[in-house]
Amino acid sequence: DLSTSIAGVTLPNLLLNASGVNCRYENELQQLLDSSAGSLVTKSATLSSRDGNPEPRYAPLAGQIGSINSMGLPNQGYEYYLEYAKKFDYNNAAGKPLFISLAGMSLPDNKAMCEAFRDANLPCVLEINFSCPNLPGKPQLGYDMEAMEAALQVLAPIIGKPFGIKLPPYFDIAHFDQAAAIFNKFDNIAYVTCINSVGNGLAIDWESETALIKPKDGFGGLGGLMVLQTSLANVNAFYRRLNNGKQVIGCGGVTSGKEAFLHILAGASAVQIGTQLQEEGTGVFERVSKELEEIMVAKGYTNVEEFRGKVKTL
Ligand code: DHB
Repeated sequence: DLSTSIAGVTLPNLLLNASGVNCRYENELQQLLDSSAGSLVTKSATLSSRDGNPEPRYAPLAGQIGSINSMGLPNQGYEYYLEYAKKFDYNNAAGKPLFISLAGMSLPDNKAMCEAFRDANLPCVLEINFSCPNLPGKPQLGYDMEAMEAALQVLAPIIGKPFGIKLPPYFDIAHFDQAAAIFNKFDNIAYVTCINSVGNGLAIDWESETALIKPKDGFGGLGGLMVLQTSLANVNAFYRRLNNGKQVIGCGGVTSGKEAFLHILAGASAVQIGTQLQEEGTGVFERVSKELEEIMVAKGYTNVEEFRGKVKTL
């Protein structure tokens, strides 16, 4: 049984896509609905539609260690995803709930989008993205504790009901402490998703001596297996610090059932797949589900509550 509950909705399977991958257009969202994923989250939306950065803007890294991207927030604008959320069949046979990712380029933009979703009064769950690393000239909110708290003071009451936030990776214990202390002040933060890509790596092809992607002189967010341990640390750090039933969604480095199992051991209530979904397609959800279930059977677990957050320390 891989079902789970988050932010007042039930997922029949705890695996879903990482926002950004296979979720910009309706046909891609439909592919997620047609897959074994237990839910789906839309591409981070801005107030107006965006084409994003010049291509190539995503590249897998040699040796299947991960990926680099600097997409630049290509999306159809929030009204497209609001319309999708209005049309969405919340009573779909598979029982899959809908998550909507919002990444306003300013607080007024985020405010306007949250107000529009509040006014529509839909059963979808908002995931506010405080961690887009790929906008030239824009430092991300997740690394500015004061600005992040100020944004939450405006947005949390507007949203009103349980919601989530997408976080960048943190690398300092003081930052885990500070960020968690902020989130614990907001009753309707239901979960945090850890992590967004590890920001601003540089991938270079040694033969051509050329960066792999075009935007930002080749700098881009890193994902995939190479970020697994950073992801697990962030999941576990917030799992240990968040209060009042706040949950963690794990994201980063999941290529098989083994990494999904590790995310749950670290404390994840659900697990998102990004790079591996991009590389493998939506069949990844059936494969990873099967592998995770096989691991559970081999270890004698019948449900995920039996091992969630139970990583042993020495
Ligand atoms: C993009 C990348 C991110 O990591 C994110 O959180 C939002 C958008 C992008 O480049 O499109």
